[in-house]
Amino acid sequence: MTSRILFVCLGNICRSPAAEGVFRALDTGVEVDSAGTAGWHVGTPPYGPMQAAALARGYDLSMLRARQFGSSDFTRFDLILAMDGSNLAEIEARRPEGNMTRVQLFTDYAPETGMDHVPDPYYTRDFDGALDLIEAAARGLAARL
Ligand code: 4NP
Repeated sequence: MTSRILFVCLGNICRSPAAEGVFRALDTGVEVDSAGTAGWHVGTPPYGPMQAAALARGYDLSMLRARQFGSSDFTRFDLILAMDGSNLAEIEARRPEGNMTRVQLFTDYAPETGMDHVPDPYYTRDFDGALDLIEAAARGLAARL
């Protein structure tokens, strides 16, 4: 059974906190958290434009604070979902020896979109496009729990 899910991106201020907020709103009863592979923004709330785009859809991300992904997350969660292939490689590089925790791309849960990553809106500035994809993947994930 999947009871603890961690969403991971690079900075933990755009994609993964949005995924955390969107998935939490689906009220699946699963424990969720998010983290970034980089430590640049540790302790800060999600990026303003990401918060604004999410709030416009009813997701309040203001209480979230960035933290860095670490090897202990492999034992704290039973499913780790990466926003892109680079995040996935960074996660795998920190996997403790012998650990079997499932790590996947979040977009695996939105095959209908044809996307193999969530493009980083910090660079693309397409916050709504990222949210569209995140909502589709969150629905797909909830349906497959
Ligand atoms: P995220 O986006 O990985 O979706 O949180 C980024 C946010 C900040 C930076 C990079 C990506 N940055 O370079 O500060």
